[in-house]
Amino acid sequence: LRIIALSDTHCKHREITQEVELLVKENPKAILVHAGDATITGTRKESFEFLEWFSDFKAENKILVPGNHDLGMDKYMGNKLRSEGYLFDFIDKAEESGVKVLINDECNINGFSILGISMIPQLLGWAFYAEDSTIERFVNSVETEYDIIISHSPMLDVLDWSKDNRGIKISKNYGSREFNILVDKCKPKVFISGHIHSSHGSVRYNEYTTAYNVSILNEDYDVEYLVTTIDL
Ligand SMILES: [Fe+2]
Repeated sequence: LRIIALSDTHCKHREITQEVELLVKENPKAILVHAGDATITGTRKESFEFLEWFSDFKAENKILVPGNHDLGMDKYMGNKLRSEGYLFDFIDKAEESGVKVLINDECNINGFSILGISMIPQLLGWAFYAEDSTIERFVNSVETEYDIIISHSPMLDVLDWSKDNRGIKISKNYGSREFNILVDKCKPKVFISGHIHSSHGSVRYNEYTTAYNVSILNEDYDVEYLVTTIDL
């Protein structure tokens, strides 16, 4: 199974159309994954423009796990911002156009079990914000193992801090320790996240799991990193 993974395109997805198209052409049975922050402000226009682009790829399976910028994909935020036009049926439209949206939900593709998590710690006021205790309750409720976990937010201290050009740490850690506990428990082969752009890359987390940060934009919100392919 091949996964073609990207995140944090923040409305600049059209700059990488050709790259994604080529990867899908190489392996149309691959799962195309977007791990969130498809938009900047999460408006209807931004959200549907992204969906139109993403659903157009000929990959057999497409999964989206929204991020903290994707306000209009979060029913709670959408409801709060109703008067500003943020409440729209994105998830239904996505499913209609062949994109599976996993918000704290699972699916099975070709025998691979997949869990998608949209719970973003620390960023109160953003989409999908979750307190650590909420994430903890979710993690406690998970009873099975998964082959693949996709979460917009990274684990704690694993690809979850910003760095400058010399690789020197310039931010705090943005992940949640609860996701480390989840990975310890579920033993996925891969944990895919985004969120912290300059943490793009991969690292072996333990004997079972490799962690990936699949951000496309850099800290200046310019396209810098390549789309990630993962073979299982
Ligand atoms: Fe993010």
